[in-house]
Amino acid sequence: MASTNNEVWQVGTVVESRRIATDIQRIVLEPSRPKTADPGSHLDVMVTIGGEERKRSYSVVESEPNGQRLAISVLKAPQSRGGSIFMHDLEVGDSLEITQPLQNFPLRVGAKHYLLLAGGIGVTAVVNMARVLKNLKANYTFVYAGRNREAMGYLSELQDLHGENLVVHVDDEGTSLRVEELVDSAHMDTELYMCGPIRLMDVVRRAWIERELNFTNLRYETFGNSGWYDPEEFIVRIPGLGVETKVGKDQSMLEALEAAGVEMMSDCRKGECGLCEVKIVELDGAIDHRDVFYSERQQQATKKICCCVSRAIPPKSGASASIDGLAVVTVSVS
Ligand code: FES
Repeated sequence: MASTNNEVWQVGTVVESRRIATDIQRIVLEPSRPKTADPGSHLDVMVTIGGEERKRSYSVVESEPNGQRLAISVLKAPQSRGGSIFMHDLEVGDSLEITQPLQNFPLRVGAKHYLLLAGGIGVTAVVNMARVLKNLKANYTFVYAGRNREAMGYLSELQDLHGENLVVHVDDEGTSLRVEELVDSAHMDTELYMCGPIRLMDVVRRAWIERELNFTNLRYETFGNSGWYDPEEFIVRIPGLGVETKVGKDQSMLEALEAAGVEMMSDCRKGECGLCEVKIVELDGAIDHRDVFYSERQQQATKKICCCVSRAIPPKSGASASIDGLAVVTVSVS
């Protein structure tokens, strides 16, 4: 795999693994080469899916001083690509390959107002930030939205720690988040840090732009696997290299191309950096854009995709897909 990250890999030993909410497992790792995890940092972890090693990223929820122990939390989602099942099966004493903490969602200290927004398991990306902002006595509001309380990890701990600074929205209780109201409440100099499903982040991004707030004050981290549609198998072709391969439901296009022997560039593997971009030459079906790299206009043009997260979906009923009803995307790589 060609990657631009200067990752330092090490061994992480599981010292705790417990259920903290519906389908959410908290896993504490003791790294062999500890390094402090700043707020917003994550670990890349090597998981085994169907006998193959794949890389997955998980936010660091808590870090003991000097990074001697790092806590992450993993949601076993229905649309999981297999990594979360591997992680949920880990037991105390197991070890796995992990990176030292990596940072691409840094918290800027010194803003006048902070808004932290977490949707579901996205809370893991902002828990550490909120703790730091509280310790700094910063002006912050932490908005946490979820389906129901049982599915919201760390909810009671966050309520104890943040008190009135925490605003909770629960769909099943009829208190769903209203994004327009939230964005309307932001000051012109508010910095928003968010992590959640792509639909939520997309709505926030549109509302932010509509209000003409400073776009550089909108910062986000993605899951890398949440899309507009459930993942389905599809075919990817690269005629220039004589490659045609099927992308499994539990696999990204990037992983499928790598498995087919194609040298691919990648970095974040979460749809943020654009390094894995491929050009679409032909498409039988449609694209489920799952990145946050392209603008809406670029996504609608369907000329390029971030193949680490985005997928092809079959044509709508009535149209015919070429192979066994699967979508087929023909691409070129530079
Ligand atoms: S590797 Fe960064 S967007 Fe795909």
